[in-house]
Amino acid sequence: MFRTVKGFHDIYGEDIEYWEKLEGALKKLYKTYGFKEFRLPVLEKTAVFNRGIGETTDIVEKEMFTFTDGDGESVSLRPEGTASLIRAYIENGLGNPPGVKKYCYMGNMFRRERPQKGRFRQFTQSGAEVLECESPLLDAEMITLLLDAAKAAGIEDFVRMEINSIGCPECRPAYRKKLTEYFSARREVLCSDCLRRLDKNPLRILDCKNEGCKRVSEDAPVILDYLCGECGSHFDSVKKYLEKLGTPYTVNSRMVRGLDYYVRTAYEMVTDKLGAASAVGAGGRYDGLVRLMGGGEIPGIGFAIGMDRVVSLMKEKERIAERKADVFIVFFSGKAEKIGLSLVKELRGAGITAEYDYDVASMKSQMKKANRSGARFTVILGENEIESGKAALKDMESGSQKECNLADLAETIKKSLV
Ligand code: HAM
Repeated sequence: MFRTVKGFHDIYGEDIEYWEKLEGALKKLYKTYGFKEFRLPVLEKTAVFNRGIGETTDIVEKEMFTFTDGDGESVSLRPEGTASLIRAYIENGLGNPPGVKKYCYMGNMFRRERPQKGRFRQFTQSGAEVLECESPLLDAEMITLLLDAAKAAGIEDFVRMEINSIGCPECRPAYRKKLTEYFSARREVLCSDCLRRLDKNPLRILDCKNEGCKRVSEDAPVILDYLCGECGSHFDSVKKYLEKLGTPYTVNSRMVRGLDYYVRTAYEMVTDKLGAASAVGAGGRYDGLVRLMGGGEIPGIGFAIGMDRVVSLMKEKERIAERKADVFIVFFSGKAEKIGLSLVKELRGAGITAEYDYDVASMKSQMKKANRSGARFTVILGENEIESGKAALKDMESGSQKECNLADLAETIKKSLV
């Protein structure tokens, strides 16, 4: 027997109902905010991610599914969408003509992380990115949109929004220096990964899940105390606009995010219900990323929602049963078959989910199958009914049965289904 690759999973049965509901709700929501859909490839040149996400991030250092393809080129399954989208924005010349661009995407991402509750190696993100706008009002709107997404999924009671500012290349070096000094004086408690991070990227230490590192991080200097004037007033404006928009948030001055492209606003929508996998969706501003990837001086901000995590929360919130057929059609073999099959076709044509017994077995056996199918209605085409151009329509919930003209059947069923 074959099994899925570690960290990969099948999605089927009633879970599909939650996924469809979520996908539909998000698409509708993005549309109202003016986002256009973008479909990005699953595979990119590895350099796209190395450059975009950062060489010293966990994702690039150890989590990518990377291989050399037939042409000797290093390629990777995308671990996230932002770097790909920026590659696409530059490659397709989307900065022309200039103006605010809003893109949304949905798709599988791949990270070779240690699988656990809410953490997979193949997972699905729904992301939103806005380019060519620096206004703090946009930051506030993106944070609001992320919470609106939770509302659209019906899980707003399970989440809360945390925000921070992580400064810019102007103010971060001074903070980085302070942090290096702080952690260097406490080397003995750091894990081996963090000892490496100390020289290369000390901010990453703040994100380490190791108990010892977590404890020393608690008293570490916080970036908010080191923001330059511009970053400070940008962050103040973001908070002011959040208040104007009525969007609830708390400031978490220890949040750093695991990707290197962020500047200024960073935000995470977190939950207490998924164990260690606490972020349901997260993002931030990445004003230098387009330039870093070979384009112009273009500001950007976005987020991605972990849809697998949202689905887990939706399942805690409400039970959605797997969809059943609307109608099961029962008919005799022989002469009635033609009428039965054309009725199936007609009902399906009217958008009704219609099923029947492919064996066209005995009436008794077909009725049993109709019962087992869980269909909302059964239509019975007996000899007498066919002669008179009618069918018996049985409501499987109440058990009541009535005669109905074949010509009116689709309309009658449709009316009772709403
Ligand atoms: P991220 O924080 O790495 O950001 O991922 C965003 C969300 O994806 C997480 O909050 C989480 O819900 C989900 N996620 C991440 N890894 C896994 C996993 N292994 N299993 C299940 N869910 C996972 C980004 O990816 C950025 N590209 C977001 C962004 C867009 N920033 C700006 N624009």
